[in-house]
Amino acid sequence: MKIDVLTLFPEMFVGPLDFSMVKRARDSGILNLRVVNLRDYTHDRHKTVDDKPFGGGPGMLLKPEPIFEAVENLANATTRVIMLTPTGRKFDQQLARELAQQEHLLFLCGAYEGFDERVRTLVQDEVSIGDYVLTNGALPAMVVIDAVTRLLPGVLGDDQSSQDESFSHGTLEYSHYTRPAEFRGMRVPDVLLSGNHAEIEKWRREQAKLRTEERRPDLLE
Ligand code: ADE
Repeated sequence: MKIDVLTLFPEMFVGPLDFSMVKRARDSGILNLRVVNLRDYTHDRHKTVDDKPFGGGPGMLLKPEPIFEAVENLANATTRVIMLTPTGRKFDQQLARELAQQEHLLFLCGAYEGFDERVRTLVQDEVSIGDYVLTNGALPAMVVIDAVTRLLPGVLGDDQSSQDESFSHGTLEYSHYTRPAEFRGMRVPDVLLSGNHAEIEKWRREQAKLRTEERRPDLLE
């Protein structure tokens, strides 16, 4: 998969996407990630990307010209262009799975008070990572890229692990234990030590359901 990111802060992407599974995906060629500076698409001496809102009001807006030029350069017919904005569709595992099917994603990261409204005509999706406002779209883009990358075929060691995890069956995941079987007086449930796989499956399904009812009843509705 190819992912391009358009941002005013390319340096923010150094680090978070250079470790762990995202690094492995990039090193192995499963993910081809390119971070592009929006200022590269300006033509004035000051590399201006923002301007005052018509009608007045606080703050500055991202002006349309550099973004249009960048998208026209970076996107083609197969590209899904995604704007990161707190007013977008709430990001979840379902959307991560949907995006993982795409050939090419182009993320537009907001900054200042946001985008000139006309930029919306360029995008297929507007995505929010939650009901809070961040200083710019770089962290949201990294969150989405991380969640999508681990779903790409060949990135997780064991393909089963992305099928059994939280949200995959509409519930939270069951609890896990590793050795030792007893630690500081806390024992691993006997059923997990029993070797009875049918019973273990049943216990895990029940655990997942109980935990979801207790912590996230909204998921069961
Ligand atoms: N930009 C600022 N806040 C954001 C959020 N919560 N989600 C996506 N983009 C954003």
